[in-house]
Amino acid sequence: MDAERNSFAQVTEVTAVAHPNIALAKYWGKRAGNGNYPAVPSLSVTLAGLRTRTTVSFDASLTADQLTLNGVRAEGTPLARASALLARVRAASSQKSFARVTSSNDFPTSSGLASSASGFAALALGAVRAAGLDWSPELVSDLARRASASAARSLFGGFVELDAGPEAPDGNEVLAARQVASPRHIDLAVLVCVTTDDAKSVSSTSGMLVTQRRSPYFKAWLEDASLLHNGIRDALERRDLHALGELSEASALAMHACAMAAGVVYINGATLDVLAQVRALRARGLGAYATMDAGPHVKVLVSGADAARAMQELTAIPSVLRVLDARPGDGARMVA
Ligand code: PMV
Repeated sequence: MDAERNSFAQVTEVTAVAHPNIALAKYWGKRAGNGNYPAVPSLSVTLAGLRTRTTVSFDASLTADQLTLNGVRAEGTPLARASALLARVRAASSQKSFARVTSSNDFPTSSGLASSASGFAALALGAVRAAGLDWSPELVSDLARRASASAARSLFGGFVELDAGPEAPDGNEVLAARQVASPRHIDLAVLVCVTTDDAKSVSSTSGMLVTQRRSPYFKAWLEDASLLHNGIRDALERRDLHALGELSEASALAMHACAMAAGVVYINGATLDVLAQVRALRARGLGAYATMDAGPHVKVLVSGADAARAMQELTAIPSVLRVLDARPGDGARMVA
């Protein structure tokens, strides 16, 4: 009955767009139990300039969900994760057909450029609308979080926070991200130094699980992550780019150190080259700060005024393939 009340008649094909987000305060580690609840709070910036575009249609003639990712039919884990999200939408709506999903990124997929964040944010929004559900942004964010916690944040623009989940979740608690500051709150440029076009070898989900099981530093990370998150939130509120950058870099290094102690290594030689160059720039008085997610690319945080100079210095690093200039941008939206 509820499902019928929430549904509109006959929606066919829809298209949603979402942007990746880069965590300044990192999420790394999950609560025990079902529902994919993060063990630590996180705070991110949603980026304009990189984009996922996803078309969804439910089709009664299909015998299974279909996913095409960057022109290639997906099977295995990517299809299973998309299908699990679609199954939740079917369970909540009067739409019972399988879906055809076509998604493309204008940046490397599965390499720590947060393609799962923009991918699942666009899929969640597209699937909800294609099924005719009139859900609030919070419910769509909660749906995306169940597929990929960072995706909950890409529903919103600017600076976005996601709380840690309840200590012992039963799986039914709604946990959504929320915007804490608009894209224009602080003058920030994120220079994305691409260090490889290859897909990463360890997904963030399995990297986190191995870290939780094996890292001698995981307990310390849980404490540190909350403190860093508070500091990052305060620095953002004060528009203090120096403190924001230093604490964001500390969050990334703590996350990677904790993972590395469990044998989970995402960085490569080029990552270290960029980290060294960022330190050299700082020593010369340019306020540049580095952060990396579950992959080898480095995102360098600078003020908009310093972006052109920093871009020149980072592009000159021989092991860096290219540098993209991304700025804080909007959340996910429907485009058709
Ligand atoms: O939500 P997932 O499974 O894509 O994991 C994201 C993990 C990091 O990107 C490393 C950190 C973060 O908060 O985005």
